[in-house]
Amino acid sequence: MLIKNSRDGFCHPVSSEITSQRVYEGRRDLIKLMASGVAGAALTSWASREAHAQGASTVQRPGKLAALPSARSSLAGAATMEKLTDYKDASSYNNFYEFGTDKADPAQNADTLKTTPWTVEIEGLIKKPTKYTLEDLLKLSAQEERIYRLRCVEGWSMVIPWVGYSLSELIKRVEPLSSAKYVEFVTLADHKTMPFVGSRVLDWPYVEGLRMDEAMHPLTLLTFGMYGEVLPKQNGAPVRLVVPWKYGFKSGKSLVKIRFTDKPPATAWNKAAANEYGFFSNVNPTVDHPRWSQATERRIGEDGLFARKRKTLMFNGYEAQVGQLYAGMDLKKFF
Ligand code: MTE
Repeated sequence: MLIKNSRDGFCHPVSSEITSQRVYEGRRDLIKLMASGVAGAALTSWASREAHAQGASTVQRPGKLAALPSARSSLAGAATMEKLTDYKDASSYNNFYEFGTDKADPAQNADTLKTTPWTVEIEGLIKKPTKYTLEDLLKLSAQEERIYRLRCVEGWSMVIPWVGYSLSELIKRVEPLSSAKYVEFVTLADHKTMPFVGSRVLDWPYVEGLRMDEAMHPLTLLTFGMYGEVLPKQNGAPVRLVVPWKYGFKSGKSLVKIRFTDKPPATAWNKAAANEYGFFSNVNPTVDHPRWSQATERRIGEDGLFARKRKTLMFNGYEAQVGQLYAGMDLKKFF
């Protein structure tokens, strides 16, 4: 059975089953506030004053969640000049199958996700296995705002101002062994708070993976916020990955474990349908999904009657930055 989605046609289906660079010193106080779950109304004016003073974020905060101040990154990426997707769309049109397969489900159901306390275990082929609390992770490096496109394998895309820092900052701290060739990202699978964990859609937990050089690439963002605020639950609170040159499903939400391995990790979508979802999953308009074209995309928010589809760019527009990682590889074979 395929689950039909009203706006897109099909919803990330499996054929067999369903269908800046500057640290804000006031961060410690902010972290305390975030940990206590207090929303950041009092921080609003402080954050916007700071951002203005730094010439940093120009993004208007939605004012819904705790502020997460950041400085505009020099790695903002190819999407910087494009119009941002409305916060409302970015936080109400989501894929987070632990909370349901319809695009509206995560925003409706993710309230039950408990994000405090939160820890992320770092283990495997490293010298320094560590269990980080969210507060430790937030302190590890300066928060940056990076405007990245995220292009979903289903054919839609968004432009979002993410807040976080390069995953490489964390990786350097734990000192990978030379045998570490891949990184596995394990996300939360909690039956009590995630109503669809246990459904037959995927083999839970949702697991993703990157090659070591991909994980170390400065564009790979360990992400704690968007639009100047902490992540909404439906977008993968309290910490997720954003890998902007790969299809969106590589960007695992609500991370609980990062494991360094010598073999490619078995990823959730690859296990579900290996012929449809390869390990690399680089955005590539010349390699179609077996059941649909990847040549064009629909930008969320531009879906009026006369809205034209956009051409999908190689590596989602980040070819200059990441093309070298795949030099000499047959991208039709290693899709
Ligand atoms: N992470 C988990 N844990 N579960 C999921 O279902 N969906 C993925 C990815 N990360 C998913 C996930 C897919 S298919 C996409 S397109 C992006 O999250 C969507 O992120 P967004 O909702 O912030 O746009």
